[in-house]
Amino acid sequence: MQKVLMVCLGNICRSPLAEGIMLKLIKENNINMRVDSAGTSNYHVDEAPDNRTIANAAKHDVDLKPLRARQFKVSDFEKFDKIYVMDNSNMANVLALATNDAHKAKVDLLLNASNPGMNLEVPDPYFGGEQGFEDVFQMVYKACQHVAFA
Ligand code: 4NP
Repeated sequence: MQKVLMVCLGNICRSPLAEGIMLKLIKENNINMRVDSAGTSNYHVDEAPDNRTIANAAKHDVDLKPLRARQFKVSDFEKFDKIYVMDNSNMANVLALATNDAHKAKVDLLLNASNPGMNLEVPDPYFGGEQGFEDVFQMVYKACQHVAFA
């Protein structure tokens, strides 16, 4: 079974959204995959996702309410086969904790799943308006479809 970890900064906007979308795709399509999410920071540990992210996801029938934030840890490199980061800053933070090339090779930008080789980032919606959350939903959903059905 493939095990996938979604990573952002706070684990309250982008990566829990990716986790929730994956959980829905996995359940609805009986996919043999496990998913989790984490943040590189400890800013929001044990918190539920941001209310704006929860509300936007709910519009698309994705339930994020049960999720709780946790911080990325070095042992995640062993537990997961693939580690998808949302932006280059998350990438640098995660790679800084890797101790070997096999661990580094597990890390990629999430949007490379939908846009191979383009190194596009999922922008942080935290400090922006409502449209930012919808834009993030659309790009994360598309990438997750590629991860789920690859
Ligand atoms: P996320 O968004 O990394 O997508 O969860 C953020 C959430 C909180 C903060 C930054 C980004 N913050 O600075 O508290």
